[in-house]
Amino acid sequence: MSLPTRVKIVEVSPRDGLQNEKEFVPTDIKVELVDRLTVAGFPNVEAASFVSPKWVPQMADGAEVMARITRRPGTLYSVLTPNMKGLEGALAAGADEIVIFGAASEAFSQKNINCSIAESIARFEPVAAAAREAGLRVRGSISCALGCPYQGDVPIESVVDVARRFQALGCDEFDVADTIGVGTPRRVRDVMAAVSAIIDPARISGHFHDTYGQALANILAAMEAGIGIFHTSVSGLGGCPYAKGATGNVATEDVLYLLRGLDIDTGVDFDAVVDTGQWIAAHLGRKGSSRAGNAVAAKRAA
Ligand code: HMG
Ligand code: MG
Repeated sequence: MSLPTRVKIVEVSPRDGLQNEKEFVPTDIKVELVDRLTVAGFPNVEAASFVSPKWVPQMADGAEVMARITRRPGTLYSVLTPNMKGLEGALAAGADEIVIFGAASEAFSQKNINCSIAESIARFEPVAAAAREAGLRVRGSISCALGCPYQGDVPIESVVDVARRFQALGCDEFDVADTIGVGTPRRVRDVMAAVSAIIDPARISGHFHDTYGQALANILAAMEAGIGIFHTSVSGLGGCPYAKGATGNVATEDVLYLLRGLDIDTGVDFDAVVDTGQWIAAHLGRKGSSRAGNAVAAKRAA
């Protein structure tokens, strides 16, 4: 299949990128990160989580982050909402899109959100309904779509089953998430094909963590399977607190470099993203983990 000419990048570093940081990242830095990503031209920024602060202390300042960011008309600001309490936070904060997040693996569902898959769907039902009623977009994220840290292999039918349940809740977009980065291109192609059989591929995104270094190859495979939305994190920041050892999402800079080489438009300013990656890595006291970002920064310094 031919590749898309345009791809939508959802920048998830303010949420997925930072949620697993051990040291609390000051609210000022979170706000500046979102603002830099907005200015760089991302159409969609995942800005915060409205989850239990006992479960994910790093995201406790979501309301303040949302109140202080400078919004650009046309940019969509998304937040995670696991339940009605989260939705209340999202509505008060003026989020544009909520993310309900389930899993294709029972074990991960229990560890991450403390309930079974069926219970999570029942919990998401009023959340999605109230969000839609309030005019918000609803995105459904399917964790462990390519493997689970607790259960191992995850059958493709389990992924399709959760996608179908999210569809029944009226989701606008569906994330096929490789939480622990174990997927490889053939499996990605098969999972995307199976989900595309029930959902318009224009509504499906690839959320690939890069633990095993497969994310860029998986993005290419997903694009060949007709997918045109990808989640990325500047400097490759991130990981899920309930998926031990899993590293961050694929680095935004690496994906932009790949897409630019393929003449695929994103509307995002690559150089501004490289700057942001170097800035946030310096703030966190480490070298950035984007290969392309570090290469460009080294060339500039030479
Ligand atoms: P629980 O303990 O079963 O919930 O947690 P509960 O209803 O019994 O509430 C316990 C306490 O949390 C109560 O406070 C609630 O008020 C409070 P207490 O009375 O003890 O003082 N609480 C909340 N506070 C603020 N906002 C809320 C909220 N809800 C309850 N929304 C719960 C269940 C779902 C809340 C919990 O398990 C949780 O917050 N989990 C979130 C875990 C998380 O954020 N994981 C990372 C994001 S998912 C991810 O990274 C994967 C993704 O990137 C895709 C991929 O890569 O796979 C999306
Ligand atoms: Mg993730």
